[in-house]
Amino acid sequence: MTAAVKHFLDLDEIDAGTLRGLVDDAVAIKQGTAGTDRPLAGKTLAMIFEKPSTRTRVSFEVGMKQLGGEVVVLNGSELQLGRGETVADTARALSCYVDCIMMRTYEREKITEMAHHATVPVINGLTDHSHPCQLLADVMAYEEHRGPIRGKVVAWSGDGNNMASSWIHASVRFGFRLRIACPPERSPDPDLLAWARANGGEVELMHDPVAAVTDADCVVTDAWISMGDDDTSRHNLLAPYRVDETLMDRASEDAVFLHCLPAHRGEEVTPGVIDGPRSIVWDEAENRLHSQKAILTWCLS
Ligand code: CP
Repeated sequence: MTAAVKHFLDLDEIDAGTLRGLVDDAVAIKQGTAGTDRPLAGKTLAMIFEKPSTRTRVSFEVGMKQLGGEVVVLNGSELQLGRGETVADTARALSCYVDCIMMRTYEREKITEMAHHATVPVINGLTDHSHPCQLLADVMAYEEHRGPIRGKVVAWSGDGNNMASSWIHASVRFGFRLRIACPPERSPDPDLLAWARANGGEVELMHDPVAAVTDADCVVTDAWISMGDDDTSRHNLLAPYRVDETLMDRASEDAVFLHCLPAHRGEEVTPGVIDGPRSIVWDEAENRLHSQKAILTWCLS
């Protein structure tokens, strides 16, 4: 009997215990207490990028190499995939050569199709729908500064984008309360909120950033314009959701600020917040490396 392939596609598809274990593994990796030195020696990861990346690309590549493995980086437009070859055939071909595939793309359906046809694990490195790898680093960053996130209040102020979707998944899986403040026109997919409710989550959708942030333990935002999108008219809509010092002061006294980066100072966040004492964005960025290593080891174990 062959073991099931362990894909890392979205947090709603992975049970809470596994996700908790991945964050704990990432902490052990960061602390140098994780055990086996090069567990992925002899393994190769293919990374497909149809959108730009700094953190995801470098942390996966460095992480894989630190675990003893190899990496092949593939620009989507240089693959036959960019000339009409199907995702299914790409998945089948890559499965002949590599042990794991990480993909960053636009439509979530492409990742789902890749996983359906690949015989090796597939990792979601971001789609227009979600960014699950980022959330492990985010939860880890919160917990290393403030202890367990379970029961805490996280406030999202900004666009109801792919990061907001993954925060909704994470709130259910890690047991924290989530308040999302966004313009009505930029609300997350109602199906996500329904999923959270059906799974015992405490997710509130609101349109007043002050109400969302008041007494929150963690304040989060993200770029107003996601990759591949050029609708700058959204700036006016989102300006009231900018995280500035006044908004941050409504949060609890020891609240921290998270942003997955890249940031646009003066748009979704002011320099005083992202570069200020409550910001933990550089630990958050560093944790991409440790959590990526935990994900790779889990997928390939
Ligand atoms: N946060 C994040 O995914 O960063 P990159 O787009 O640089 O990979």
